[in-house]
Amino acid sequence: MKVAVFSSKPYDIRFFTQVTQSQHQFTFLEPHLNAQTATLSQGHDAVCCFVNDSVDRPTLEQLHKQGISLVALRCAGFNNVDLPAAVELGITVARVPEYSPFAVAEHAVALILGLNRNSHRAYNRVRENDYSLHGLLGFDVHGKTVGVIGTGKIGQAFIRIMHGFGCRVICYDPYPSDAAVTAGAEYVELDELWAHSDIISLHCPLVASTRHIINKDTLAKMKHGVMVINTSRGALINTSDVITSLKTGAVGYLGLDVYEEEADLFFEDNSDDILRDDVFARLLTFRNVLITGHQAFFTKEALQAITAVTLANLDAFERSDLSALHQVLPPA
Ligand code: NAI
Repeated sequence: MKVAVFSSKPYDIRFFTQVTQSQHQFTFLEPHLNAQTATLSQGHDAVCCFVNDSVDRPTLEQLHKQGISLVALRCAGFNNVDLPAAVELGITVARVPEYSPFAVAEHAVALILGLNRNSHRAYNRVRENDYSLHGLLGFDVHGKTVGVIGTGKIGQAFIRIMHGFGCRVICYDPYPSDAAVTAGAEYVELDELWAHSDIISLHCPLVASTRHIINKDTLAKMKHGVMVINTSRGALINTSDVITSLKTGAVGYLGLDVYEEEADLFFEDNSDDILRDDVFARLLTFRNVLITGHQAFFTKEALQAITAVTLANLDAFERSDLSALHQVLPPA
């Protein structure tokens, strides 16, 4: 199949072109996919895109006009796709449901440890020949209560690590799993999780019921000085509300790998441009906020797996083998 690969970065090209036995032809395109850039897919059978590509109805209509029959996401989340519109237009959507839950879980832990021990500040101090310790005081993670929202593949990997640290791990998921309990967590109601957790880490998808799951009301239920970690999707947190809580100290630490309005910022080198997002600019002023630009997935193992599953999806679609295709369908 001829595949137009949107939002291509050098590392995508490297991993895709390393697979020499693939029979598909790839056109690597730098732009994000949206209704305007969709015309670039002309002459292709499928598009391949990533987390911040906009696969909304106008984009899908444009892809349909270009004769595209498959959208192959090279990510797990599909909140950026209008699934009912895809079904209506006869466009199949496939994704990579799992590539490395460890990559994301380990990055969440990196944010916790970095924030707690102020590694980001210590790094800069040492480079300035400043070895003073004031402001760097941390706490033992051992013995603390960690709340996990969403106990799927990443949540479970995260639970195992935090259990290994000697934490009490409590969790919430509308679909509890035995695996999370075996990993060392205990299911509780959401209100109990808010009230008892010293650290809260989000590992649920972005859907209507989880949008702004962290907001002024839920923040009010948390322990004073709580640490909040989000490696899932930016819009799980109402950023303005969390800024208010950071100002009062109610939120003591915030670790983000994702941000509500990240599509205009992340994955690009904007260092020659003015930062126009005032909310993001305010976040950057807090010493107890550690932000990375959606890199939690970014390990060699994850990229290898993303490439392998995407190619398998293309193969399965080409030979109409729905059982081997990781298809995404709208909820019944
Ligand atoms: P998964 O599908 O294995 O697990 C998600 C879990 O969330 C499921 O157990 C589901 O029942 C639960 N859930 C659904 N609604 C919920 C709610 N209202 N409250 C609490 N839990 C709820 O997904 P996986 O692989 O663990 O990924 C989780 C999320 O991580 C993805 O949806 C994606 O947004 C994010 N992600 C972030 C990456 C990054 O680089 N920062 C990379 C990969 C995924």
